[in-house]
Amino acid sequence: MKVLIIGANGQLGSELVTAFERDVVVALAHKDLDITDHEASARLFERARPDVVINTSAYHQVDLCETTAGRAFEVNAFAVRHLAQLCRQHDALFLHTSTDYVFDGSKGRPYLEEDAPNPQSVYATAKLAGEYFVRHECPRHWVVRTCGLFGDAGRSSKGYNFVDLMLRLQKEQKPIRVVNDQVLAPTRAREAARKMYELIQYERRHRSGENLGLESHELYGIVHITAKGECSWFEFARTVFEEMGLTANLSPTTSEKFGAAAKRPSYSVLAHGKLAQLKMDDMEDWRDGLRIYLAEKRAAAPHPGPVLAS
Ligand SMILES: NC(=O)c1ccc[n+]([C@@H]2O[C@H](COP(=O)([O-])OP(=O)(O)OC[C@H]3O[C@@H](n4cnc5c(N)ncnc54)[C@H](OP(=O)(O)O)[C@@H]3O)[C@@H](O)[C@H]2O)c1
Repeated sequence: MKVLIIGANGQLGSELVTAFERDVVVALAHKDLDITDHEASARLFERARPDVVINTSAYHQVDLCETTAGRAFEVNAFAVRHLAQLCRQHDALFLHTSTDYVFDGSKGRPYLEEDAPNPQSVYATAKLAGEYFVRHECPRHWVVRTCGLFGDAGRSSKGYNFVDLMLRLQKEQKPIRVVNDQVLAPTRAREAARKMYELIQYERRHRSGENLGLESHELYGIVHITAKGECSWFEFARTVFEEMGLTANLSPTTSEKFGAAAKRPSYSVLAHGKLAQLKMDDMEDWRDGLRIYLAEKRAAAPHPGPVLAS
């Protein structure tokens, strides 16, 4: 199986490259392909002839999108539409990543895949447009909505993820204010990649004629892939410090006081309706994911070595 991974050096993309190590992977960083260059995308499909295409790329600087709506739609909607068209033309499975931010948060309980979206920001509106384009253009698709990713690669455009940012601010002994009125399910990027890998294997089995008890029209669509459980960003930060045994100058704040340019949902926990239907809902709890992530970080940190008496 030949798998084309777009955004391959990002948090999720780099974990997907590892997850598919037994397959033929074409791993594309931004410098290899800018998805807004439609001709380059088309040439690439001709050359690579992929069986599966995974798009993790996005213009996801949420606040910046408010003032650069054209770019937000170019990357997150129109380029995605074109990728979906290319997948249909080449009979490739298209797995596209979207966001919990398509919801407005007013439900106050975990959102199911079929709940009505109501994006609150330019970023979320553009991502939702991308979702609709995928569903409209490419019948063989999964639109994977995920949430609060943290992974080794950090956020390439920003150079860190939330966990690493908290640790950096603590080290610099800076006062840390984190919103306590946005509830989410922080998700380890490797765990999301694992489930995306399994989804693709599931589709392969279906295509090869194995009876999985589902019709094709029941197979494809939107899938929520997030950790289990929920917390606010503040609780998430507090747990990072607790797990690391660190004392931080951490205090809760509100979204209003924080004053970000883009509005975020107050509650964006996603229910795993589709994974449950496919009998694939064994996602880890966010706390377990965080512990694994921090343990790996500790193991990878250079050993301080023996302390010499002076
Ligand atoms: N991170 C989260 O908390 C979160 C939450 C919900 C949903 N998601 C979604 O999950 C997906 C993966 O997120 P992530 O955290 O893994 O992001 P990431 O670490 O920033 O990776 C995204 C990758 O896409 C590349 N990229 C950006 N614009 C591109 C373009 N026009 N053409 C080709 N490549 C481009 C980036 O390269 P450069 O950095 O070099 O531009 C980067 O390598 C995204 O679709 C995002 O919307 C993320």
